[in-house]
Amino acid sequence: MVVSIKTPIPGPNTLKYKALSEKYEAHCLNQQAPIVWDHAEGVKVWDVDGNTFIDWTSGVLVTNVGHSHPKLADAIARQARRLLNCYDSPTVERITLAERMVKLAPENLDNAFFATVGSEAVDAAVRVAKHFTGKFEIISFFGGFHGRTMGTMSLAGKTGTKRHFGPVTPGVIHVPFPDSYRNPFGSDSPDVAGQCLEFMDRSVGAMSTDSLAGLIVEPYQGASGFIFPPDGFLKSVERWCKARGIVFILDEVQSSFGRTGKFLALEWEGLRPNLVSIGKGIGSGMPISCLLAESRIMSTLGEGEMSSTWGGNPICTAASHAILDIFEEEKLVDNALTIGSHMKSRLLGMQDRCRYLGDVRGLGLVMGLDIVRDKKTKERDPGTTRKIIDECCKNGLLIGAVSGNVIRVAPPLVISKDEADESLNIMEKVLTKV
Ligand SMILES: Cc1ncc(COP(=O)(O)O)c(C=O)c1O
Repeated sequence: MVVSIKTPIPGPNTLKYKALSEKYEAHCLNQQAPIVWDHAEGVKVWDVDGNTFIDWTSGVLVTNVGHSHPKLADAIARQARRLLNCYDSPTVERITLAERMVKLAPENLDNAFFATVGSEAVDAAVRVAKHFTGKFEIISFFGGFHGRTMGTMSLAGKTGTKRHFGPVTPGVIHVPFPDSYRNPFGSDSPDVAGQCLEFMDRSVGAMSTDSLAGLIVEPYQGASGFIFPPDGFLKSVERWCKARGIVFILDEVQSSFGRTGKFLALEWEGLRPNLVSIGKGIGSGMPISCLLAESRIMSTLGEGEMSSTWGGNPICTAASHAILDIFEEEKLVDNALTIGSHMKSRLLGMQDRCRYLGDVRGLGLVMGLDIVRDKKTKERDPGTTRKIIDECCKNGLLIGAVSGNVIRVAPPLVISKDEADESLNIMEKVLTKV
């Protein structure tokens, strides 16, 4: 048994630090489970009161190799004593990481560029697409989330992301994403993907000034509630882009590094994007991101046209090497698939017994539990979702939610079957009680 709850939740030390946070910290962060973290290991998290929890958040789908994996920690410590930063000067760590990343990608992606956070890798993709085509319009999807810089925020189709932050970068054309649970057209057509493709065609025809540079899409929409498109949709989008000669950008900041049960989510449909942005799991806790690109596109940028103070720095690239080693040694992609399908089938089994659990969806170790007031109307229920988060925490399971009502199921990929079952038992108890 992993879980051990020794104090009321929140505990006395948590309350003390929460009061300090209230006083001194900015209040713009996302709400989380009501504890203050102390340390973590694998899927286990200790709070400042000595309680132990199982983590279904991985931070925010970041710590794919588990919290503070000893091999990762050793690699970081070793590199910290050797070299921390040398700006754009080449290092063995950076060059060989580029080689490893390219070898793990489809053969058309033969160049790697490293940056620091996911938003930066997405920004880089858009810059490259604009530079290559000499055009400026980017197609993006309603519900899409690509980061919080001014550039990536402009792409967002997620409601509220831009509120009070305008004006945004012009040239973004938004089109609907095929949500099979809540059809974006309010219809009950079984072909939501076909509806969206037709709408995209018409919408772009009406709105574009014939200056299309590219299209950006996530393999699944994480921040908008873990919405997975029907099979074949992304391949159709790819064909649509290629027929028009525009750059097809896949945002794998969240879905890469084994999260969906493939190393890259693009493998599910054999996609061949021209550019892929990668983040989160590539650093598993260290700030590194990557743009995988076709060199024929990337090479339009001249010397000094794109770089970053911390991009590809020695410590983060050394960390990513350790992470790739851990992936190979511990077969984490296979584990994500096996444990993910076990967890999904148990969660689907809970759906009938819980009147709030409207939908269970996902792939590998990334799933969403859609909490609704009424399964027929599918009205979102943020109040019950908050109660579930707090109750799970009191019982030793850390979860978070997106869109107010979709619980994120995204444990580190090292989770064992016993740990999965122990945490699922907590979820089952809470879901049938609230
Ligand atoms: C699909 C996607 N793209 C981009 C980002 C932005 O990444 P970061 O927060 O590291 O800048 C995120 C973060 O959640 C994401 O999920």
